[in-house]
Amino acid sequence: MLIKLSKASDCKESEITPESLYVSRRAILGGSLAALAATALPRWAGAADASRYADVEAGRAPGWFSDKLAATKWQAVTAPGEAITPFKDATHYNNFYEFGADKGDPAANAGSLKTEPWTVVVDGEVGKPGRYALEDFMKPYQLEERIYRLRCVEAWSMVIPWLGFPLSALLKQVEPTSKARFIRFETLQDPKSMPGQRSSFALIDWPYIEGLRLDEAMNPLAILAVGMYGRELPNQNGAPLRLVVPWKYGFKSIKSIVRISLVEAQPRTTWQAIAPEEYGFYANVNPEVDHPRWTQARERRLPSGLFSPNVRPTQMFNGYAEEVAGLYSGLDLRKNY
Ligand code: MTE
Repeated sequence: MLIKLSKASDCKESEITPESLYVSRRAILGGSLAALAATALPRWAGAADASRYADVEAGRAPGWFSDKLAATKWQAVTAPGEAITPFKDATHYNNFYEFGADKGDPAANAGSLKTEPWTVVVDGEVGKPGRYALEDFMKPYQLEERIYRLRCVEAWSMVIPWLGFPLSALLKQVEPTSKARFIRFETLQDPKSMPGQRSSFALIDWPYIEGLRLDEAMNPLAILAVGMYGRELPNQNGAPLRLVVPWKYGFKSIKSIVRISLVEAQPRTTWQAIAPEEYGFYANVNPEVDHPRWTQARERRLPSGLFSPNVRPTQMFNGYAEEVAGLYSGLDLRKNY
């Protein structure tokens, strides 16, 4: 099935971000911000201090999302000293293999994904299983803006302002039973709208699956996101609902979720199933444990180019060690990569 597996190794430091990204960004940065704000910024601009996201493109948010924005806790978590990645880069340099294996494919192809209506199933070892329309699923939760670093296993990184709510809040709602030890997530399977799922070259056994240990899922940093840059998620970034686990490599942050199951046994996750010696279940960002085919000691912060590669050292747990290292005390991180 899908994927040129070598995609992961594509991430050479010499790789150049497409010129179009730079051109558009320069045009925006060099142009009049005030004029841009008048045309491109969505209505929430005042509430969110959207001048922080100068190049954001307005979306077409569903009504429930716009209502929630009014009560959003802005900048609930920030990334001190980090510049937010331009919206254009965050939305045109993506991994979403359901829409193709190249970085520009998700932006080009994900328009076919229909995100309304959207149903989320919660099942398995829970006291309160359910099947929800997304707007009902979201009712109990206040949105928070979380500005997190995102570090891909391919050694590029970004800084993204997400809008979401703690996964722990969902777990509290659904009441895991005493048997629940892991949480398993499943992406939509719909070959009609997802060309990657129709590809005869695909290596992935669809649907895309990810998982966390229950205590990892309870960590306050783990969120389910429905938006970014003060607006709803663009399709290529995993609309309408995705996981964000900032201390783990990006492949753990599964997109376009339709099913969340509490389970007893460790789930068999997509990348682990494809290449277990390269992609582990834990996938914690760790500069001391290299990928078999490249170093993880450094990363390329986007935007980057030939003359400004923007390479920097990778931080343990992606800079979130204080919050998460305790989850792994006593665990050999070389074996449990
Ligand atoms: N989720 C699904 N369903 N399919 C995917 O191909 N790619 C993962 C993750 N979630 C992926 C996915 C990988 S490898 C990364 S690095 C991040 O999404 C990228 O998220 P971004 O495109 O929003 O930066």
